Amino acid sequence: MSRITGTGSFVPAKIIDNFDLEKKVDTSDEWITERTGIKARRTLATGQTNSDMCLEASKRALQSAGLKAKDIDLIIVATMSGDMPMPSTAAILQSKLGAKNAAAFDINAACSGFLYGLSVADKFIRTGASQKLLLIGSEVNSRFLDWKDRTTCVLFGDGAGAVVLEPAKGKRGILSTHLHTDGNMWDFICLPGGGSQLPPSSKSIRDRMHFIKMRGNETFKIAVRTLEKLALSTLKHNNVKPSELAMLIPHQANLRIIAATASRLNIPMDRVAVNLDKYGNTSSASIPIALDEVVKAGRIKDGDYVLLEAFGSGLTWASALIKW
Ligand code: COA
Repeated sequence: MSRITGTGSFVPAKIIDNFDLEKKVDTSDEWITERTGIKARRTLATGQTNSDMCLEASKRALQSAGLKAKDIDLIIVATMSGDMPMPSTAAILQSKLGAKNAAAFDINAACSGFLYGLSVADKFIRTGASQKLLLIGSEVNSRFLDWKDRTTCVLFGDGAGAVVLEPAKGKRGILSTHLHTDGNMWDFICLPGGGSQLPPSSKSIRDRMHFIKMRGNETFKIAVRTLEKLALSTLKHNNVKPSELAMLIPHQANLRIIAATASRLNIPMDRVAVNLDKYGNTSSASIPIALDEVVKAGRIKDGDYVLLEAFGSGLTWASALIKW
């Protein structure tokens, strides 16, 4: 079994609040707050990159694990907004960090990316293929938002969260991870342009194909139904009751989705990590940022059960149960 031995996170300094967005698109602080729970989000400054955010979050995670960059043997970056299509953002991070003993690769499962990464990371450690692994979820969503589309630009933000994983010594660690995909609904949330299907052209740019598109309301309904089932089956798999959970750390897409999951599990909101009011939806970064905040605030202690769950483009959904 693997265990998280260090956490770290980084969010850019620039804050865009709902009132700033009122000046850009036909929206209101009231609509955004009521429908999503989001009050503000961060955006990365021009000239800074995804791997820069990974670097800051990684340094903090390494420090909290008491490790040096050269101790790391594998780096996984979960992202859908990497520095460039190739090389991987993980390879660029490896260089910036000076983690010369680490192999490095990216994975993309959109908002479920961190938990997909955690599942892969856990398997590397369980098989003995990795001893000290750095996993990061990091997104520069702001660069892929259509600032003329009020249905998406109010939702997303930038940020990065990192964890260090090592083999567990006792019975505490990642108990199980669960991954799911339904690719039939790939077009519910997608970024159609810029890949090999639709390379950049003046037409694709004119048609605004290089921005995130989302069928929000349909996604919302599926997310609520799916996440309840996912949370219950993850707990059942481990013979843990919802009442035994010390903390639920959900992906931060919409406060109404988070509250619905908590309510169906009968978990009070003071045992649920929420930070989307400050950062919006940071996709693969939302769970590791929230985890870092919860750890630093002393809200989880050794032996606590912590449930992580996410839902996103693919469609993908994933969970992990941790005995902290
Ligand atoms: N400001 C003001 N009005 C807005 C708006 C905005 N920013 N965005 C949409 N609206 C309008 C719509 O145009 C629509 O108007 P109409 O009724 O005149 O057509 C109305 O508000 C309701 O839109 P709808 O999309 O049905 O709202 P909603 O309650 O579903 O909330 C989301 C929209 C996107 C916040 C919500 O559906 C959501 O969070 N979806 C899930 C996202 C998710 O989990 N994604 C997976 C991870 S990325």
